[in-house]
Amino acid sequence: MKIGLVVPAAGRGDRLAAGRPKAFVLLAGEPLLVHAVRGALSSGVVDVVVVVVPAGMRDTVLELLAPLDCPDLRVVVGGGERQDSVRAGVHALPSDVDGVLVHDAARSLAPPRVFVDVVAALEAGAVAVVPTLAVSDTIKRVVDGVVVETVDRRELAVVQTPQGFRHDALHAAHEAARGAAPATDDAGILEALGHEVRVVPGAPEAIKITLPQDLLLAEVLVGAAPT
Ligand code: CTP
Ligand code: MG
Repeated sequence: MKIGLVVPAAGRGDRLAAGRPKAFVLLAGEPLLVHAVRGALSSGVVDVVVVVVPAGMRDTVLELLAPLDCPDLRVVVGGGERQDSVRAGVHALPSDVDGVLVHDAARSLAPPRVFVDVVAALEAGAVAVVPTLAVSDTIKRVVDGVVVETVDRRELAVVQTPQGFRHDALHAAHEAARGAAPATDDAGILEALGHEVRVVPGAPEAIKITLPQDLLLAEVLVGAAPT
């Protein structure tokens, strides 16, 4: 299967509040985006890379990613919502791509094994695949400040990226979702259209860097990673 990687990296990073767009914030001396793309390429399953960036950052990104030797690198400008950015990225893929991995720049430490597992599930015939982790906290449903239910956490999962899709299905789903209320992940858009979404094991170290404390944890995890 020919696999395209779409990396949404066009967000502002308001919650991290690090004075620059989040994908360009440094982790162990390198931008989050560089970590994310390097991890994906190390998997050996990616043939084309599309990075979606804030306006005015194209040249910076080409320069940052040059040392990584991306097989076929395209850089496009994103939109107001994550979903708009992913759609722009999907549109920039060559038409002969069979499967697409959508992977947030903010989830910089996803290990290569997850990319391999997601692609293996696509090759086995899945239309949509997400990496998941079990929920370790107790989860309650709260309405108007009152607990109304303790949810059975054995049925819940935390969802990560990279998420994998058949190219045609992802393209059609993003077109169908144009103008609708933005989804928080791409699998959600396919779910809404009735597609089955399969799961593979996620990785606990693949945290999404959202808040300043996430960046601190990521620094520790990078230090702990085997070289
Ligand atoms: N993203 C994007 N385009 C947007 C919004 C988000 O490409 N309009 C990307 C981000 O760059 C990030 C991923 O989607 O890699 C996940 O989004 P999130 O963690 O929410 O990042 P930000 O939107 O940058 O952060 P915040 O919501 O705190 O501003
Ligand atoms: Mg956001």
